[in-house]
Formats: sequence, structure tokens, C-alpha cells
Amino acid sequence: MEQYIMKGGNPLVGEVTVSGAKNAALGILTAAIMTDEDVLIENLPDVRDINVMLEAIEEIGARVERVDRHTVRINASTIQEISVDDEYIRRIRASYYFIGALLGKYKSAQVPLPGGCNIGSRPIDQHLKGFRALGGDVRIEGGAVIVHAIDLVGSHIYLDVVSVGATINIMMAATLAEGLTILENVAKEPHVVDVANFLNSMGANIKGAGTDTIRIRGVKKLHGTEYSIIPDQIEAGTFMCAAAVTRGDVMVKNVIPKHLEAITAKLLEIGCEVIEFDDAVRVVGKPVQRHTDIKTLPYPGFPTDMQPQMTVTLALAAGTSMVTESIFENRFKYVDELARMGSCIKVEGNVAVIDGVKRLTGAQVNAPDLRAGAALVLAGLAAEGVTEVDEIGYIQRGYECFEEKLQGLGAMIEKVDSEKDAQKFRLKVG
Ligand code: EPZ
Repeated sequence: MEQYIMKGGNPLVGEVTVSGAKNAALGILTAAIMTDEDVLIENLPDVRDINVMLEAIEEIGARVERVDRHTVRINASTIQEISVDDEYIRRIRASYYFIGALLGKYKSAQVPLPGGCNIGSRPIDQHLKGFRALGGDVRIEGGAVIVHAIDLVGSHIYLDVVSVGATINIMMAATLAEGLTILENVAKEPHVVDVANFLNSMGANIKGAGTDTIRIRGVKKLHGTEYSIIPDQIEAGTFMCAAAVTRGDVMVKNVIPKHLEAITAKLLEIGCEVIEFDDAVRVVGKPVQRHTDIKTLPYPGFPTDMQPQMTVTLALAAGTSMVTESIFENRFKYVDELARMGSCIKVEGNVAVIDGVKRLTGAQVNAPDLRAGAALVLAGLAAEGVTEVDEIGYIQRGYECFEEKLQGLGAMIEKVDSEKDAQKFRLKVG
């Protein structure tokens, strides 16, 4: 089974370039099927979730041409199916975006219900509430969501929960509904805005993305476009924490600093130096970093997808920190793994109380999910000795060339898939 093996203790130093945003790309790729004309999408991250999504788009009959590693041309005029295969939902949750895209374009969709995952139950009741409000007849049958609409008509919808997925999914369906849809209490993440901008580049009429209320005036049809995905806010934040936790000095390039404000604020609070440039941020870790408190919130609050990475950084800060996870109900599973490396963290419900320690020691740990896996790698790079992180398939879902980018910053890390190769690495690093 593939794993990352690393020897910690080296401060990470140098420059790293961030890829396109996975969570923007997943919405944009599904929205691309809403026109019968060619859509060219650039700056796609080459990660597993994106590649699975492209397979699913091809599976329902669209033409998908990989122009290069980060560019794809999609033409959905040949779609035959309004039903997405269960296999894809099991592999990526975001396949539920097919409901909004197919319902908007074909007034019909059949998509297996996404399972829960390691960070929480993750229901889609708000998505379904929106589809019903637009006139969709929504049924759950045989573990699938089946939606049909005679007509989609604009509606005034108030989300009970601020949900990225529901905001994007309902916005897609509403672009081709008749009349005005007002969507309230929406998610404001950069990737939500990116999907709205993409849809507008296809001729949609969406206003207010990035605020609490989005107004969508339905259009008859959408046309082709060329679009480049925004940089990944969470990948950028992960490398910012990598610099802090290893006391390094890293220039994170191809970012939008405004998207990183909550992360920058917290790294400044613990004593790091953070310098912002037009499209880069430089993070300089300090020998002694202070404790602070974090509460994850919808954007522009501190992102839940950065919670594990910040917790690892605070595990090696002086003093006691508190991290409150207010978005998902089960996002501290990795703390047990971190304890094997010598961290001192107590989890009570959705709060982690972190007593900073002076050192972590390498151990064999398991990645329980995507962001926690990345955080455990950061811990291994800061720990003394050798760490092995298993289940790295989670990490490869959302981080392109993760080990190569870290190696470029001086990290002693390799991806190995046998005990023999792991032994070779141990002998090499001594
Ligand atoms: C998106 O998930 C991201 N995934 C997640 O990133 C991210 O953690 C999350 O947004 C929050 O920012 C993608 O964009 C593919 P939500 P999503 O709907 O849309 C509850 C990563 O690491 N809720 O904003 O599924 C839900 O249970 C992944 O890249 C309902 O109750 O998240 C959660 O508590 C992990 N009913 C809260 O809302 C609904 O209908 C936020 O979920 C929908 C959500």
C-alpha cells in the first residue's frame, strides 16, 4: 500500500506554486455540461477527485478532451444519460453537483445519494429543498435522488445551513429556470464565487456571489466559454502551515492573498512573519510560536479545511490553544494519530484543547481523510525521526504532486509502496 515516508527536522525553505482550486473545479466541471457548445477549462489541478469527475462526465456521454495536464475541453452535446453511475458517487461526494446541472439543462436527473464520510454525516437536505423550491419533483428511491421538473421556476430560497454544496448546486439549476431566484444565507467561499463567475461567462445572469444573497435571473440557454480556475486557497494554506510548523521560510506563489486572510491572521497571532505580495505570500516561522484559539466558520471565517493543519501547528506552539470545529461533527479523528507522535491534545465534543509540546517524534500513522492526511505529513516534517503516513490515497484526492512540491522545499519525503523501499529510505536518511 502506498505511503509517504519522511524524516523530519528540516525547516522548509524556498518557493512553491499552488495549483488550481479543487473545490472550484468540481463545481465548474459539472456546470460545463449545461451547454452544448465547447467549454475550455484551464488551471485544473491534476488530482484524483478531478480525474474521477472527468471520467463521470465522459460516462454520461459528454466528450472530454485532455488538452494537457491542467487543461480540458468538454462538449456535452452528446450526453445520453441523465443518470450518474453509483461508482462515481462512492468515489467522490461532489458528484451530487450533477443533480443541479442535469436538472437545469434536461429538467431531469438521477444521481446516487452521496455517502457520509470520515468528517461527518454530510446530508444534502438543503440541496433537495432548493430543487423542490424551483419546481423539482424530488424522490429518494433505491439510494438515489430522482428529480424531474415540468418547468423550473425561480423562487425565494433561504438556506437553513450555510452550505457550499447546496449554494453551488441550486445556483446551477436556477441559471436555466424561468424568472428570478433569490438564494439567501448562502456560502461565500472563493470557490462559490468562481463557479458563479464561470456560469456568467457562459451567459448566466448571477449577481451577489460572495455576499449573503445571490440573485439568479434565469436564461434560456448557456453558451461555450474559456475559463481559468482560481488558485487553491486550502493548498496555499497547507503550505503556509508547513512553513510555520517546520520553522521555515516559504514563498507560496500563485495565490490570491485576500482568500488567505483568516489563515494569515492566525499565523501572525502565533508569531510568524507573513508578507503579502500581489500573487504570493511569504511565511517565516519563528523558533517560539505562541498559542491561539481557532473557531472554524464559513468564509470569510477560518476554513474548516484548514483545521487539521492549524491544529498540528499549534501542537508545537508554546501554551494552550483551543480549536473549535463548528462545521463538521467528526473532524478530529486524526488527533489519536497525532498522539502517537507525542502531541498533547484533548478532544471534548467539537473542541480540541491543545497543550503545546516542544517536540514531536516520528511514528507510523494513518490518514483518516484528505486534510487530516496532509496535516499528519506536516507533523512528520516537523517531528524528530522518521514518520510513515499510510492511506495517502486520501491526500492524493486533493493535493497535486504533494511530495514533489515538499521535496522542492527541502523536505526529506518519498512516496513508497513496499517495506523494501521504506527500508532504503531509512538507510539513505540515516
Ligand atoms: C464543501 O463540502 C467542500 N467540498 C469541503 O471540502 C468543505 O469542508 C465544505 O464545503 C465546507 O467548506 C467540496 O467543495 C467538494 P457544506 P460540502 O455543504 O459542500 C451541513 C475538502 O477537504 N449540510 O458547506 O459538502 C454539512 O453537514 C472538503 O476539500 C447540511 O446539513 O460542505 C456541514 O455540517 C472536505 N445539509 C455543513 O452543512 C446540506 O444539505 C457545511 O457543509 C448540506 C450541508
